[in-house]
Amino acid sequence: MKRILFTFLVAIALTLSFHQVEAADGKAIVDGKKCAGCHQMAGPAVKTIAEINKRKAPDLFYAGSKFQEAWLVGFLQNPITLRPAGTVYTNHIKADDKEVDRISGVTPCASKLSADEAAAVATYLMSLKDANMKTGVAKIGKFSKPKAKKVFGKDEGCNACHKVILRGKKVKGGISCPTLNNAGDRLNPDWVYSFINDPQYWDPKVWMPKRELNDATLQLLTNFIMTQKSK
Ligand code: HEC
Ligand code: HEC
Repeated sequence: MKRILFTFLVAIALTLSFHQVEAADGKAIVDGKKCAGCHQMAGPAVKTIAEINKRKAPDLFYAGSKFQEAWLVGFLQNPITLRPAGTVYTNHIKADDKEVDRISGVTPCASKLSADEAAAVATYLMSLKDANMKTGVAKIGKFSKPKAKKVFGKDEGCNACHKVILRGKKVKGGISCPTLNNAGDRLNPDWVYSFINDPQYWDPKVWMPKRELNDATLQLLTNFIMTQKSK
């Protein structure tokens, strides 16, 4: 019995130290690749519109609360565009001489990591958690999709800014912020709930309006968003 317990404890210790090594490696890679040249890697978030307008890339200092690790591993090797009009859309949308809006200068994330590097960086990013976010809040399960679509569209106008998959495979919606058509693979449901409830807690000057939504509506929207999967 003692022997089994000992083996068990050694196994746990090894697993823990392995994860620490990986997170430390990940941090070294983030420093070496100069991710902080574009991303804010430490809090707090900026507090003025002028600072937002200078933002080159999304904040990563709460990545461990926001993302799913497996998605990060893939993205860091092969970044895709999430924000059709860039990180701050007002820097990329200009009316042309016919007064038609044109998007220019949008580039995807510059991360081009190998599989091993991506795994180490994802471990490190997952260690960057917001200490105050409540976990176990989002209740993922059965929900009424027609009702959720109505709240997302007609009632709250979320689709004015965000793209989602609607009928069949059609992705529709606004372009001034991240697409949600892959949110179910990408985001942590507790973070989605928290962000919809109070976007300015995470980013004081973000242009997503704060709404007074009750728990049932937040659960409905969170469930709808978590069913959005690109594959
Ligand atoms: C030249 C600037 C630049 C550098 C350097 C860069 N990124 Fe990015 N990154 C971006 C931009 C811009 C986006 C937003 C892309 C989008 O939304 O379409 C982004 C998005 C991301 C996202 C998704 C964030 C979110 O909230 O959606 C992660 C994670 C990420 N980058 C990690 C990294 C890591 C790790 C490194 C270093 C290995 C890195 N990036 C280096 C510009 C950069
Ligand atoms: C006026 C535009 C606007 C409206 C309307 C809006 N949002 Fe947002 N939303 C944003 C912006 C801006 C962000 C964060 C931008 C970023 O990360 O670069 C955001 C982020 C999000 C995120 C996190 C996405 C991610 O990948 O990081 C979710 C989830 C979300 N919004 C859901 C909603 C829901 C649900 C509604 C309706 C109740 C809504 N939004 C209405 C602008 C909007």
